Amino acid sequence: MNLDHPIHIETEFEALEQYIAKKKPSQIVVVMDETAEKLCLPLIGHVIPEDAHPFVLGSEGEDVKRIEHAHALWSGFEDVGVDRSSLVIALGGGSVTDLVGFAAGTYMRGVACWLVPTTLLAMVDAAIGGKTGINLGGAKNRVGSFSAPVGVSICGDFMPTLSARAIRSGYAEHQKHYLISKAAELEKTARWVGPDAGLLAETVGASAEVKMSIVREDPLEQKARGGRAVLNFGHTAGHALESWAMGAGEDLTHGEAVAWGMRVALELSAIVAERAGDADGSWATQDKIAGALREEAAHLAVAIPCPASLVDGAEAVSDADLTSLWTTMERDKKSRGGRVRWVLLEQVGVATAGHEVGFKEFRKAVEAVQLGR
Ligand SMILES: NC(=O)c1ccc[n+]([C@@H]2O[C@H](COP(=O)([O-])OP(=O)(O)OC[C@H]3O[C@@H](n4cnc5c(N)ncnc54)[C@H](O)[C@@H]3O)[C@@H](O)[C@H]2O)c1
Ligand SMILES: [Zn+2]
Repeated sequence: MNLDHPIHIETEFEALEQYIAKKKPSQIVVVMDETAEKLCLPLIGHVIPEDAHPFVLGSEGEDVKRIEHAHALWSGFEDVGVDRSSLVIALGGGSVTDLVGFAAGTYMRGVACWLVPTTLLAMVDAAIGGKTGINLGGAKNRVGSFSAPVGVSICGDFMPTLSARAIRSGYAEHQKHYLISKAAELEKTARWVGPDAGLLAETVGASAEVKMSIVREDPLEQKARGGRAVLNFGHTAGHALESWAMGAGEDLTHGEAVAWGMRVALELSAIVAERAGDADGSWATQDKIAGALREEAAHLAVAIPCPASLVDGAEAVSDADLTSLWTTMERDKKSRGGRVRWVLLEQVGVATAGHEVGFKEFRKAVEAVQLGR
């Protein structure tokens, strides 16, 4: 399956305008939530033809990823006569691009969909790579499809209205792309600590390209040690902390959880590097690599602090909490036969997936992260 799609870094939306002029879609539907309608539509309105149909979702954020909203969209498509030569434009954050990508990708077995992500997270991650989906009860992204958009417009001008917290959270995935690739274009933001969103706006396109190039190599996540799976860097422990926060009723963003998860994975990577150095006598080199990995973890601690009470300010995480995180990881759909699998870095920029790490090492890594080592 080819999930490759063009990414246009543009402020005037010329690529979208040209697509519309060339394809002359039978109908155009622009789907957005109320916030995107108010804050984002004015920036793109000049390329949307007057006879396009606006569709404003009745909800915002994660709540839009429900079958009721997909159903409302399908009915809306029906009402305005959307067919296989129509175009659906999604304007909004990752929740909107996930929902609209799914609804368009399944309506009449696939109507062309153009994504215009408006949050940092959606620009560098959610809108890239053709994964779409909605939630089922409490299960995230349980129903979905691989449906590549016909184009994605990345425009940093949407960012000034985002909250500082939304920017920090999006930065987690942005920095993940740097850590797993060491792409030269992302060096500029590798030590970003906010609040200057302008600097990030300059590099969002390069970050999206890192993800796209990884997806291009392994669209369906079939490679065991590399490929698309490396995009899960930081997500093993991150998802577990996210689930814990949900159960505890604490407000924690995905990016904050992933940033903490990356700190744990960086420390584990450093431990593995030191062990390899001891084993084959290359300790001087491996020590240097471990030091660089820990430096990245220290940067993340400052750039994206984790507000979960389980880790925030605590010198030590209790054994009961560690065990509960571990159990969640064992149940995660990405672990095999209950064995927790990690994406680790051999060094900054070189990621491999499928590492099995035991509970004792996990505990050691969390302890180091808590002590800020
Ligand atoms: N498909 C994928 O590969 C993929 C990857 C990563 C994340 N995701 C999904 O992305 C979703 C999260 O997306 P998100 O973090 O973009 O949040 P979001 O889409 O839930 O949006 C959060 C809030 O920000 C508002 N908003 C959007 N743009 C704005 C702007 N420019 N200024 C001010 N407010 C704005 C929205 O209206 C909403 O209220 C999750 O559901 C996650 O599962 C998908
Ligand atoms: Zn993520």
